[in-house]
Amino acid sequence: MKPSHLYALTLSLFIAAVARSKQQSFSPTNDIFSNHIPDDPVARTIVSRALADGIDLAAFAFSGPALQEIVRWSHFEVSSELPDSLLQNLEGATKIDVHVHYAPNWYGDIRQDPTEWNLEEHLELMANQSIEESIFSVPNPNIFLGDEGATLAIARLLNENMAALAKALPLRFKFFATIPLPYVHASITEAQYALESLGALGVALSSNHEGHYLGDRLFTPFFSALQNTIIFLHPNEPLLEVNKTFVKANPTAYSPVIAEFYFETARTILDLALSQTLTNYTSLDFIMPHLGGAFPAIIDRSMAPGALLDDVMAALRTRCWWDSAGFTYSHQLGGLLAYNISPSFLLYGSDYPYISPSLVDASANAMAKSPFLDEEEKQKPNKHLDEGPTKLNQFHMYRASMRIPPIFDRRRFFRCFLRCTGFILPLQNTL
Ligand SMILES: *[C@@H]1O[C@H](CO)[C@@H](O)[C@H](O)[C@H]1NC(C)=O
Ligand SMILES: *[C@@H]1O[C@H](CO)[C@@H](O)[C@H](O)[C@H]1NC(C)=O
Ligand SMILES: *[C@@H]1O[C@H](CO)[C@@H](O)[C@H](O)[C@H]1NC(C)=O
Repeated sequence: MKPSHLYALTLSLFIAAVARSKQQSFSPTNDIFSNHIPDDPVARTIVSRALADGIDLAAFAFSGPALQEIVRWSHFEVSSELPDSLLQNLEGATKIDVHVHYAPNWYGDIRQDPTEWNLEEHLELMANQSIEESIFSVPNPNIFLGDEGATLAIARLLNENMAALAKALPLRFKFFATIPLPYVHASITEAQYALESLGALGVALSSNHEGHYLGDRLFTPFFSALQNTIIFLHPNEPLLEVNKTFVKANPTAYSPVIAEFYFETARTILDLALSQTLTNYTSLDFIMPHLGGAFPAIIDRSMAPGALLDDVMAALRTRCWWDSAGFTYSHQLGGLLAYNISPSFLLYGSDYPYISPSLVDASANAMAKSPFLDEEEKQKPNKHLDEGPTKLNQFHMYRASMRIPPIFDRRRFFRCFLRCTGFILPLQNTL
């Protein structure tokens, strides 16, 4: 990576972080937003469906603009609203983007985050980078800390919003569901609704939800309920709870995005490993962000040789996938592969729109030049590959069920296959 790229990356991350650091000064019922619930059957259905699950969307000011956005996507006409140049056939494209975010304005407004997601720019980026499909995630519904009602409403609205977008462009977009942890029972309900009724491919979890890391005992009922599911992990800002108040825990002068996100990723994977969550729930597959952040670097120190470490390493090698988001291939990849993790478990992640298209491009160039993969690994198995992890690697993710002993779980394989190819949406899940 050129120094200018690093500088631009740092700057963009810094701006995003400054914006984020101002969050939480709003109350969810702040009247700066219109609470107008659109007069549309789509909005009315969503409001009443949510109420049946104990979520009162009408109580929150952000619901108005969120529902307007959802209604907009549910009436979106691709052929009349997008130029032909953006609708080219991407069959034969080489990548599926598993680490990419949706950032609607209503969500940016409550987080005070100016990052904008733009459909045209995203489609152009996908064409430029040979990305056939983008799987959105918005793993952080905890904007109003300690406010269960608001957190549930935000998670539900994000899921309805991503589902409407994925339905508008079903060949391009899929999504991982937002989960309102630490509220465990509501999270089970939300996961079930998003996976079975909205067609989510899996669930997205934050490194910590209101200060609780993912190995927390509190979450055991959630992981027990969640079977045969892909979990996409994502770092967020570390928080400590002091006297019932949440305190940001970044002790350095740098934006959490620069370094803390990597430590957060390491903390939560370590917590999943030491609590045995990672190894007890063997039907769960994980996508680890940013090649696992700092986790590979601490394994030797934090886990003594023995049965648990052996089981954890087996899980890391067979049920965990590692996304490339950020600048991970110049040096960092070597540390992960040193644990005998197969390059076929590497997935592609752009981190758009939090990483700008020009930096996504710079990252792709770094991936193409990575010293840790040979040419065959970079090309394999698709002849048309330019660089990086392959589309076929992505499909290992959907084929994960084939590795569940002792019998080949055809039902799960076909369900995942149909889901990922967009043939069916509502599915019976074992959740
Ligand atoms: C796509 O590639 C073209 C040609 O290199 C470039 O001008 C454009 O900015 C790129 N757009 C995105 C969103 O990556
Ligand atoms: C927590 O609250 C108690 C009672 O208000 C107070 O005495 C104590 O100093 C507080 N602790 C911290 C770490 O703020
Ligand atoms: C995992 O299973 C072990 C052994 O049964 C048990 O001691 C441990 O508490 C379990 N942990 C979780 C998070 O389920």
